[in-house]
Amino acid sequence: MITLGIESSCDDTSIALVENGTRVISSLVSSQIEIHRRFGGVVPEVASRKHLETVLPLLRDCLDSSGIQLEEIGQIAVTSGPGLLGPLLVGLSTAKALAWYTGKPLIPVNHIEAHLTASFLTAGREPEYPFLGLIVSGGHANLVFVEGPRQYNCLGRTLDDAPGELFDKVARHLQLGYPGGPVIQKTGENGDQKRYTLPRPMSGKGYIFSFSGLKTAVMRVVAHEGDNLSLPDLCASLQLAVSDIFVEKVGLALKETKARRLILAGGVAANTVLRNSMLKLAKKHHAELLLPTLHLCTDNAAMIAAHGFFTAHLAPANSLAVNAVANWEMGGPYHF
Ligand code: KG4
Ligand code: ZN
Repeated sequence: MITLGIESSCDDTSIALVENGTRVISSLVSSQIEIHRRFGGVVPEVASRKHLETVLPLLRDCLDSSGIQLEEIGQIAVTSGPGLLGPLLVGLSTAKALAWYTGKPLIPVNHIEAHLTASFLTAGREPEYPFLGLIVSGGHANLVFVEGPRQYNCLGRTLDDAPGELFDKVARHLQLGYPGGPVIQKTGENGDQKRYTLPRPMSGKGYIFSFSGLKTAVMRVVAHEGDNLSLPDLCASLQLAVSDIFVEKVGLALKETKARRLILAGGVAANTVLRNSMLKLAKKHHAELLLPTLHLCTDNAAMIAAHGFFTAHLAPANSLAVNAVANWEMGGPYHF
């Protein structure tokens, strides 16, 4: 069974073909980073227009480069939320038109849920339950206990900013560029993680995350240090603070849920400091850690196709009537 995946929830247009939910035949991502860089963040209207220009040529490229005919596709999985409404509508409308034309089933997919499936796709395995999932991206910090397909028990989430958003805002303040995560990682590579003392917000407060205070603390260090500021040391100290927060909360969850499997997902899962600390933590708790490869951490349609494959049986029969939703809870009902 070949699933066609379509993703356009933010600033990446992506088309993928995945076989049986576990093997990527082709996954193409057209990034809009260069367009949004000068604004220091994603401009929704600009993103929608770019998705519209890109989606059909990218579909053509994906089919041509993999030698697959449209008729060979068994089903179409598409991100229908959460995300930016305009960008979501471009992908969803394209998917609906294709499903209607080919007569193949349409599977609406929740983008955040799909991030978790990326790790299983990397491993070439079917999702195995239960597992503990940490999704860390530009818009989310969610810690969930997953009991089955689309069955999420949300343990904790962020009260304010997401960790990727924190990296993006700090990078903008430091004029390091956009997106912030990769450039902060690179800048901090040889920095001293202990040089600057930064807070670990919500430490000792269960599963609640908060990152906006960390942003303020970084800005205070910048103002205080003036010309003496070491960017490598600051970037290294910031990454350690973020990673420490996750080590504490995920450690607590591993202990309380007794989960034997941990999945790290989302754009911030590409962060080397976080990946290494999660590896150590999983080892300490005798849990298996599944990590997505770097190109499956950030937004991509392969994870959408894979997640669509494993949740196809839960999709509504009248999926052509499904709406795009800017805020769609993980495991929440499909919207019409
Ligand atoms: O999952 P994603 O591609 O889009 C959302 O759904 O948000 O995540 C994008 C976020 C951005 O905030 C970006 O700065 C961050 O992931 N990111 C990283 C790294 N690569 C991307 N953060 C830390 N370290 C990285 N290596
Ligand atoms: Zn994402």
